[in-house]
Amino acid sequence: MEKRIKVKDLLKCEPGQEVTAKGWVRTKRGNKNVAFIALNDGSTIYNIQVVVDKTAIDENVLAKVTTGACIRVSGKLVESVGSGQAVEIQAGEIEVYGECDPMRYPLQKKDTSFEYLRTVAHMRPRTNTFGAILRIRNNMAFAIHKFFNEKGFVYLHTPLITASDCEGAGQMFQVTTLDLNNVPMNKKGEVDYTKDFFGKQTNLTVSGQLEGELGATALGEIYTFGPTFRAENSNTPRHLAEFWMIEPEMAFYDIRDNMDLAEEFIKYLVKYALDNCADDIKFLNDRYDNELVSRLEGVAHTEFVRLPYTEGIKILEEAIANGTKFEYPVGWGTDLQSEHERYLVEQHFKKPVILTDYPKDIKAFYMKQNEDGKTVRAMDVLFPKIGEIIGGSEREASLEKLERRIDELGMSRRGLEWYIDTRRFGSAPHSGFGLGFERLLLFVTGMSNIRDVIPFPRTPKNAEY
Ligand code: 4AD
Ligand code: MG
Repeated sequence: MEKRIKVKDLLKCEPGQEVTAKGWVRTKRGNKNVAFIALNDGSTIYNIQVVVDKTAIDENVLAKVTTGACIRVSGKLVESVGSGQAVEIQAGEIEVYGECDPMRYPLQKKDTSFEYLRTVAHMRPRTNTFGAILRIRNNMAFAIHKFFNEKGFVYLHTPLITASDCEGAGQMFQVTTLDLNNVPMNKKGEVDYTKDFFGKQTNLTVSGQLEGELGATALGEIYTFGPTFRAENSNTPRHLAEFWMIEPEMAFYDIRDNMDLAEEFIKYLVKYALDNCADDIKFLNDRYDNELVSRLEGVAHTEFVRLPYTEGIKILEEAIANGTKFEYPVGWGTDLQSEHERYLVEQHFKKPVILTDYPKDIKAFYMKQNEDGKTVRAMDVLFPKIGEIIGGSEREASLEKLERRIDELGMSRRGLEWYIDTRRFGSAPHSGFGLGFERLLLFVTGMSNIRDVIPFPRTPKNAEY
């Protein structure tokens, strides 16, 4: 038996040769004399058509070839007239690896809504849509490493278990080996964490940034790319409890260099997707969102708007004065909700916006303080359909200012001494940002719910598989 050829490659092969394909049956139809099997192996959105002359294949075998079954087909690759592809396989032999009971197969159902598919997320990679999404996800992950590798950035592995709260928002999942039915207490009546695995309270990281800064102030330019965890109880189409984040951190970059890198990075990724995932993107475009390709091309070739937060608030206040209704209030000092971000991007500017210089009270402790005493050198990249896709800043490099801010916020310096050391010993101007990988994928695939761009979503009350 010849070696298996992937469907993606088979579709480009010259007809005339004997070939073997292995995969899962998408559909089988036909008549008394011939059967047509659409076979997919996940290597491409396209199926290979298998034509079965019923006199050539045992009818008991053919009966087992149902939607979802896993089979091997060996036969001759021939020119195809009707399948929409250049070639098809004339079956010489079929082996059924795994049967699939049509009455019980979850994807046999008529209901193919995204809501339904989330309830069978263990099977949904077998659908055309999730196959396409997962291939795009893979390509984007590769492109991210390629981009930074070409620029000489060092890929730094930052820990998933940590004792600090980078964003200071307290949205952490605790990690413990203490017996929750019998928690040890100290004399003060508090939990005795010296008895815990690490001898102190620990949690899953919300960001690799703080450790990233250690890397940048030694290696120059680094990036992290790993899972991050947030216990925010927000059941929105843009939030996950476990999501992947890419965090570059660069010595000697000011906020402008940071914005330039962020803009170049996203455009590179969008172009990479257009060039390397054309079949899958075309499928998603034609099936769900016929403005997807034009939206991607638009972003790849437009200059992003750069605007201070204070100007952004003025635009939103004018919009309200002119009759625009928002669910949440707007005013200097308030955090922007995604409806506000999307107004700026989709209605006002009609292109991505990088909003800078936010009030210090709505941003994290590590951001560089501006001269005005009120704002910090933050930069959020806002995207159509998504809202915030990147959050970043120039970092406060002054030891004195950083310590004062930590104190002002009532945070403990004790657990952060290792971080503060970067400002104590050879402090450097530096900047960085975090791109939410799934937010990027929402944009690139055109999907509208973040649960549909990660294979196994983690959200409040949901940790299946
Ligand atoms: O804006 P955030 O909270 O920034 C940071 O964590 C910084 N430490 C990054 C840095 O400067 N190195 O998060 C960064 C990005 C957001 O812009 C968003 O795209 C994504 O991470 N994100 C989420 N994605 C999915 N689900 C959630 N719950 C997310 N929270 C943030
Ligand atoms: Mg943010």
